[in-house]
Amino acid sequence: MTNSYAQLWDLDPNTTYLNHGSFGPSPIEVRQVREEWSLKLQRQPMRFLCQQMEDLLHSTAEELAEFLHTKPARLALIDNATIAMNIVADSVELSAEDEVLFTDHEYGAVRNIWQRRCQAVGAKIVTAQLPYPLNDADTVRALTDAASERTRIIIISHVTSPTAAILPVQQICEMAKQRGILTAIDGPHAIAMLDVHLDKIGCDYYCASCHKWLCAPFGSGFLWVHPRHHHNVKCPIVSWGGSMAGHAPIWQDRTNWLGTRDPAPLISISAAIAFFKRIGLNTFREHAHQLICHARRELLAIDGVGPFCTASESNVVSMCALELPQPADWKPGYHGHPDPLQIELREQHGIETPVASWNGKRFLRVSAHLYNSPAHIDKLLHAVKNSPNLR
Ligand SMILES: Cc1ncc(COP(=O)(O)O)c(C=O)c1O
Repeated sequence: MTNSYAQLWDLDPNTTYLNHGSFGPSPIEVRQVREEWSLKLQRQPMRFLCQQMEDLLHSTAEELAEFLHTKPARLALIDNATIAMNIVADSVELSAEDEVLFTDHEYGAVRNIWQRRCQAVGAKIVTAQLPYPLNDADTVRALTDAASERTRIIIISHVTSPTAAILPVQQICEMAKQRGILTAIDGPHAIAMLDVHLDKIGCDYYCASCHKWLCAPFGSGFLWVHPRHHHNVKCPIVSWGGSMAGHAPIWQDRTNWLGTRDPAPLISISAAIAFFKRIGLNTFREHAHQLICHARRELLAIDGVGPFCTASESNVVSMCALELPQPADWKPGYHGHPDPLQIELREQHGIETPVASWNGKRFLRVSAHLYNSPAHIDKLLHAVKNSPNLR
């Protein structure tokens, strides 16, 4: 059931974990580094938090910047993409005349962030319906058509959560720039799944978590901000806002100290990068791609299962979503109320993979990482094919 990479993780042996896309566990060596940093904090908290932490965050930002092809001065290390997007929402000036443009594939919590921000000033959220199935040219066209004189900012996923689709973010940012519209990219799934060149995308803000495909500890992510906005970054959590260690002011002072907390997950991002440098990003991507393509092919062979938003195998890396048949009594579910198939997979087969709804369609999303093996996929296929809850 296991492969040699699986030994690098300490996953529950009773679970077939095919949901790295939701929460990505760290390899043992990365977890150990996080624990060592936490221990250093425990041994001398004053020295660690007030003298060493800012330099450690900076050296981590240097390594992350190299990994993401940008400069450390553009990065703030933030616990997760949700907090990063809250910072963006607070930093962008919005008025009652403004519109915030979304696609219909965006992550629910990110929509909630902007809904609250828009409500506060009387601005409006506009949602562009992307083509079904997706293609790059029509995606850019749908956003172009939905943009208006009033559009202040476009919020787009780099890789979408419910539909596992890779969006043409660079082309979208180019279109937005021509119209004087800001762009914020919601990128947690792209980090390590894709080569991300932050300085080339052309966006104004990029938010991500590193605890997905990069396998950094839970509670690690970043916010990338174009230099033209650094002076304007506002953090909804207001704390000291200055350097504890007596360094010259930088915009990241507003986010480095958010009250007392353990920065170990953030500082351990370097260990996750080192892990992938040793194993090879392409080793991960090719391994995952083969497993996902195998799952996709076999699932598509089941009557009533469709390709959903990704037309071909070249559109997927380590995660795919497929449309499932809708049982007669099926109703679109919502977060926290899993589909009966998801419950059956978890409770009867020990398989963790989401089955949910999006735009009135029912889908199953499969993720694969280095620790997964063909046997995991075969177990899922066998369970789905024989499930009384499939249709
Ligand atoms: C597209 C997308 N955006 C944002 C988030 C939020 O990430 P986090 O919970 O790490 O803040 C997720 C999490 O699954 C996501 O898939």
